Amino acid sequence: MTIKANYQHSLNRRSFIRGAGFVGGFAIVTGTSSLLSSCSPQPSEISPKNPVSSVPDSKFIPDIEINLKAEPKTVQILAGQPTQVWSYAAELVKGDPSSLQNIPDSYLGPIIRVRKGQRVRVNFQNNLPQGQFSIVHWHGLILPEDMDGHPRFAIQPGQTYIYEFEVINRAGLNWFHPHPDGLTGQQAYAGLAGLFIVTDAEEEALNLPTKAYDVPIVLQDRTLDDDNQLLYLGSKIGTPRNPNMGNMGNMSGMQQDKSGQSSNDMMGDMSSMMGFLGQKIFVNGKPNFTLSAATRVYRLRILNGSNSRIYKLAWSNGEPITIIGTDGSLLARPTERKYVMLAPGERIDVWADFSKLKVGTEVYLKSLAFSGAENVGGSNMNGMKGADDAPELGSAMVLFKVKIEREEKETLQLPSKLVALPLLRPEEAVNATQPRPVELSLQGMKWVINGQPFEMNTALPQETVKLNSIEQWEIINKLNPGAIMDAKGMAHPIHLHGVQFQVISREVLPELAAGWETVKDGYVDEGLKDTVMVMPGERVKLLMKFEKYSGLYTYHCHTLEHEDAGMMRNYRIEG
Ligand code: C2O
Ligand code: CU
Repeated sequence: MTIKANYQHSLNRRSFIRGAGFVGGFAIVTGTSSLLSSCSPQPSEISPKNPVSSVPDSKFIPDIEINLKAEPKTVQILAGQPTQVWSYAAELVKGDPSSLQNIPDSYLGPIIRVRKGQRVRVNFQNNLPQGQFSIVHWHGLILPEDMDGHPRFAIQPGQTYIYEFEVINRAGLNWFHPHPDGLTGQQAYAGLAGLFIVTDAEEEALNLPTKAYDVPIVLQDRTLDDDNQLLYLGSKIGTPRNPNMGNMGNMSGMQQDKSGQSSNDMMGDMSSMMGFLGQKIFVNGKPNFTLSAATRVYRLRILNGSNSRIYKLAWSNGEPITIIGTDGSLLARPTERKYVMLAPGERIDVWADFSKLKVGTEVYLKSLAFSGAENVGGSNMNGMKGADDAPELGSAMVLFKVKIEREEKETLQLPSKLVALPLLRPEEAVNATQPRPVELSLQGMKWVINGQPFEMNTALPQETVKLNSIEQWEIINKLNPGAIMDAKGMAHPIHLHGVQFQVISREVLPELAAGWETVKDGYVDEGLKDTVMVMPGERVKLLMKFEKYSGLYTYHCHTLEHEDAGMMRNYRIEG
């Protein structure tokens, strides 16, 4: 695909997004909404003929059983009009009442709490509007392939998918969200996400803060219009729209440029290329979040549940952040950082000691400025935000406030040792001298993995690993010479299903070192992870063992607009 150079350079990220908004509006007033929905991918084409998992297994005796519905609802987020959202509604059918906690007045789904070794049944019912096929992915959990929420198992509105699995993960914060091909970004943005917290004996022995002092923090960015409705890439949630805005232009007969591509194609492509950024930071489903705290230690488990926004977390009082865990595990011992990078999908477990603060003190968790994560288009793409626009990727911002309001004595000590991690040694990998390459690059206006877009049911021979083998993978965020607007690339958070990995090395191309220097001290690579941020020009080596289940799993960029546009592949674990 070619786009005229003069046109490219007259547009910046913001005007692309605004333009996409206009397209959405145009489609509605001209009544093309039926066209739009008829152009959505047809699940019948992409789901397998399928033993859809719709009948419970009578031999499976769950410790916890939950009915989970994805459905539209309204919540009072701001004063005035309630906001229409899509949300997971849950009810406990069986199990300890503490295993399910709903979050009142939020679009955010429930918190499910389980112990390692427990057996869980979830009856997932898709009650979303027509065209919104869906499936739940349990991000972080190690599960059999048909329990993992691969997009090939997506079900239609009205259908039910039954999950039955045993939790084999270590203690940690996992989460769940939709995973249908091409629709993940809008469904997650509309509110579909929840937490899945695993505990185990090793964690309990540590005497970490619990109950009201163990606080999940879900960071997201959202844009609301004047009527308090969520806007996603220019459309209101619930408005029939094509999951890939790139096709809108063709349907509404917009003007084509010489290359045969309409300008709206390009705007849609631009949105999926850059990713969605919202105007306001939401914490646990609410803007302007304040944590009312006591003078004691808290455990803050922070998830970046944003579609695209990356945060550079830091305390406003200059104290370092004390970290006790990452995506898939507690660490062997606590570690400190001046700041912590948290890309979409990643989690960080923080020991937050407010015991030395006076009642009345306010501290903020901020995101500090950083650069180089968005290198598409050169200097004309930066610093062009208007009054109503979302902050750029890498802008400094306040995420939430902690207000010390109560005196409380407590005697918890930060343990000097946490858990015994089953860490692998790099030389144990079968391909230690030749890690499996995973190249991230731009093809036209689409990000791809090893030069290929997503294919629903295939994994190539070079995407096949052996069950029980230890491997190294090397994620390479390539330069894209000659690509649109001289793309030097974007940061991509790469997520692997079906496995937890170690990050064993990182290096960066000298020509892109400047941006990398503004983030590199915030990587926390000591624990087990399932999502890893990879900056432009960066190469990151992972080490992992595929030890439990065989089958077809995905790996992808967790910038949801990239994932939806095809920055996803399958890999096969061969038994
Ligand atoms: Cu949280 Cu495949 O994603
Ligand atoms: Cu990406």
